[in-house]
Amino acid sequence: MSNKTAILRSGATLAVIAGVCTALVATTWHLTADRIAANDKALLEQSLQPALANTFYDGSVSESRLVLEPPHGLPGSDAAIIYRVYSGEQPVAALFVVTARDGFAGPIRILLGVDIDGVVTGVRILQHRETPGFGDKIDARKSNWVEQFASRSLQDPPVARWKIHGDGGEFDQLTGASVTPRAVIKAIRDTLVYFEAHREDIFAAPASKDEP
Ligand SMILES: Cc1cc2nc3c(=O)[nH]c(=O)nc-3n(C[C@H](O)[C@H](O)[C@H](O)COP(=O)(O)O)c2cc1C
Repeated sequence: MSNKTAILRSGATLAVIAGVCTALVATTWHLTADRIAANDKALLEQSLQPALANTFYDGSVSESRLVLEPPHGLPGSDAAIIYRVYSGEQPVAALFVVTARDGFAGPIRILLGVDIDGVVTGVRILQHRETPGFGDKIDARKSNWVEQFASRSLQDPPVARWKIHGDGGEFDQLTGASVTPRAVIKAIRDTLVYFEAHREDIFAAPASKDEP
């Protein structure tokens, strides 16, 4: 066998092996894609639960997602997300993912649940860079500070009292760290004001398409 024939034969063998490997990867991806998507969805639904305490609903929350690109009138200069929550056909609550821009160490991403009457069903801090031992007590894993907003609304307390005690408001601050709570409380209050003004539009809007 000449050198040229040997090279051609090796090349052909490598091409076949590469083809088989590509086909195997593609088949595996195809077979697992649905399961991965279902797992992601279940994880997302589970992570939204803490903001929906005592709310009776059915169906998928994640499928009713509305993505609002800025400027949208909600706190934050990045995209805001709203999940609509239903019992049958009846809207019962909305979950907001918004950003408080004025945290001590950067933006604070907040998950806020609000029932149809504008009463808070739960709050969780999704992302922040606040200082451990100071501002990080907004995280439900570090303290129960965030629990004080459950069952509150713009009537309880009135808008002007959605502030920390030190500023003449209704809510607990964090010792030696007032900047962080101020930012979170303002973002919750502004989201409640938005919900009151846009409730009908929120439930009438079609769900956003998934990104390709
Ligand atoms: C190293 C360092 C980290 C701090 N981290 C935070 C923080 O994460 N959140 C916060 O509100 N204040 C933080 N502070 C304190 C603020 O600078 C500010 O003094 C405080 O928020 C004012 O709260 P007070 O009015 O209750 O004293 C930090 C201060 C230092 C020196």
